[in-house]
Amino acid sequence: MDKQKLIRKFDKQSVLYEEHTRKRMLKEWRQQIIENIHGDVLEIAVGTGANFPYYDRARIHLTAADFSPMMLRRAAGIADELQMQVHFIESDIEKLQLPEQSFDAIVSTLSLCGYDDPVQVLRNLKRWCRPGGQIRLMEHGLGGNIILRSAQRVVNPIAHQISGCHWNRDIIQMVKGSGLQIERMERHMGGMIYLIWATPGKSEIDPANHLSQG
Ligand SMILES: C[S@@+](CC[C@H](N)C(=O)[O-])C[C@H]1O[C@@H](n2cnc3c(N)ncnc32)[C@H](O)[C@@H]1O
Repeated sequence: MDKQKLIRKFDKQSVLYEEHTRKRMLKEWRQQIIENIHGDVLEIAVGTGANFPYYDRARIHLTAADFSPMMLRRAAGIADELQMQVHFIESDIEKLQLPEQSFDAIVSTLSLCGYDDPVQVLRNLKRWCRPGGQIRLMEHGLGGNIILRSAQRVVNPIAHQISGCHWNRDIIQMVKGSGLQIERMERHMGGMIYLIWATPGKSEIDPANHLSQG
């Protein structure tokens, strides 16, 4: 789907997302995923800031990106209410350029369903995360049994047309394909919700390029 059309779609959905944020929907899973995160933190496809209430404000410097101006405007309102300092970036995550190894933790919740090339996005997270850093994911994808998976594959074209999200993503294959190292995983709702604690794994940066000159 054309990106401008997708942005307009998410702009319209921002009212509903703010409502969900205020009702603290998926609170337990969000709490689990955000737990113990500190330092320089990047949250991609932040929506209306549904995870903001669960960060330890005193221990993070948060950068949050999304391509929908309306989502970002609402997220900024939520951040103000929580008295959180957030550096917002309005950008397509698939075009975002950030310095290598610049974050201690990177968070993505319900975002991998939206990208054209989610594996490349995950590869970028691996590059942007510092060695020893944390990558935390709460995503929806293919369920745990064949009936559910078949149904998800059948409804996917319509679901994508309506919501802008793919319902048939193979989350484990994508994460493994990106080179991230899965440390822990939980699955819920028939296996359709994935909570993943990952690390950047082996660095692909050539150490020779990081030697100081002279
Ligand atoms: C399903 S919502 C999830 C929002 C939030 N992460 C949460 O957990 O509630 C998906 C979000 O991804 C954003 N998004 C989708 N594709 C994107 C892209 N290519 N670049 C930036 N943001 C994107 C949408 O604007 C929307 O805010």
